[in-house]
Amino acid sequence: MVWRMFLTLLLAAGTASAQEADPEAGQGIFWTYCWQCHGSEARGDGPMAEMLAIETPDLTRLAARNGGTFPTGDVAMKIDGRAALLAHGGDMPIFGPVLQGDRSVAMRLPDGQPMLASRPLADLVVYLETLQTE
Ligand code: HEC
Repeated sequence: MVWRMFLTLLLAAGTASAQEADPEAGQGIFWTYCWQCHGSEARGDGPMAEMLAIETPDLTRLAARNGGTFPTGDVAMKIDGRAALLAHGGDMPIFGPVLQGDRSVAMRLPDGQPMLASRPLADLVVYLETLQTE
């Protein structure tokens, strides 16, 4: 309940001050922390990919693999470590701490529900969304 009220307030504040996630900032984060495995174009072909025991996914196909809808919440939780993916604790570092920002941004999930994320995480997720191919 309190959470819901907080979210409503935050969304209202967000609309007023245009708290939009920024894909260009997200690209900068990707080129710092992610390209080594996922590749500079996020196709899963970074220089470190072949050293990993499991295949590094092509991040331009996240929507295509989800029936054409970009799975915003799922992607966010796989990046920040909230989704309990075994492989993320192994081959993929947990990026939550790196992506902590002092402000939260509300992202819209495919069903229209808002989801709060730190600004760097939201930037990264909207950047990945711009990369989606058929
Ligand atoms: C050390 C190599 C490595 C780095 C660095 C890395 N990843 Fe990954 N990533 C992987 C691997 C391997 C998987 C597959 C994990 C699995 O299938 O369980 C993965 C999975 C993912 C997934 C889930 C894809 C899907 O199909 O659902 C996303 C999203 C993702 N990574 C984003 C990122 C982002 C964003 C960064 C930078 C903050 C990053 N990764 C950094 C290796 C890496």
